[in-house]
Amino acid sequence: MKILAVLGSPKGKGAGYGIARKIETAMAACGSVSFEYLFLKDLDVRPCKGCFLCVTHGEDRCSLQDDRVMIEKRIDQADGIILVSPCYVSSVSALMKNFMDRMCYTNHRPRFFRQKMLLVSNASAGMEQTLETLRRTLGPGPRITGRIAALTPPWPLTPRAQARQDSKIRREAVRLYNAIRKDQPRNGLPKRPSFSGYLQFRFFKKISADTRNYLQADYAYYSQLDNFHYPASIGMLQRLAAGAVLSVGMLFMKDLAPPKKPA
Ligand SMILES: Cc1cc2nc3c(=O)[nH]c(=O)nc-3n(C[C@H](O)[C@H](O)[C@H](O)COP(=O)(O)O)c2cc1C
Repeated sequence: MKILAVLGSPKGKGAGYGIARKIETAMAACGSVSFEYLFLKDLDVRPCKGCFLCVTHGEDRCSLQDDRVMIEKRIDQADGIILVSPCYVSSVSALMKNFMDRMCYTNHRPRFFRQKMLLVSNASAGMEQTLETLRRTLGPGPRITGRIAALTPPWPLTPRAQARQDSKIRREAVRLYNAIRKDQPRNGLPKRPSFSGYLQFRFFKKISADTRNYLQADYAYYSQLDNFHYPASIGMLQRLAAGAVLSVGMLFMKDLAPPKKPA
């Protein structure tokens, strides 16, 4: 089982790296795992220029030629992803935020359905907000198995707090390992999509038809899919429930609809 840890600390091997190493130790105790660490500070991931072409026309239209494609390949090859960011003023580090911006299109056209993902934020406070931001980094494709809000103040933790934290780290490591194992017979793909995942698919399929003149890449992607992002069986009840939620949701969003004819 291949695990890729992506670290957003400008320090590289700081306190967050220490947490990732503990996860590695705990997963290695479960079975055979190989860990790879990607330090964003050492990679060439250039600042997003804001053209939005990755969303509107496709990620291959991004003018920045850097390590983004290499990172995507590494994610594709991994079974598990661990995203680690220190909390900086109640959010992710700038390195991690830029990485999120560069992967922004995955929120429109999701990928990485095989991968399971564990989120880690470390600091003294504000880790929950950071985790909430971090969860959107790779879009809704990877299944998030857990979150760790790790206390890493500039002083040592009390033995009790340290023991509690280490036990949480072990629990989440085992959970990630087991989630990957469970879906291995299906090449990593979950048996069936979650309701929210399916709803999101239906929502984007509908919106992409309405906005085909504006979001061409979304339209090209969703118009060739009927059921879901990958072959999956969707129950009748799930279909009906999603259809009902979608109809109500679209009513609330009517002010956002594009004009019938492009301006
Ligand atoms: C610019 C900046 C902003 C920070 N903001 C916070 C914060 O909002 N809350 C907090 O608890 N720690 C904050 N910190 C401290 C770091 O999150 C903390 O030292 C963390 O353990 C560093 O992790 P690392 O060693 O993995 O880089 C901040 C540090 C920096 C450099």
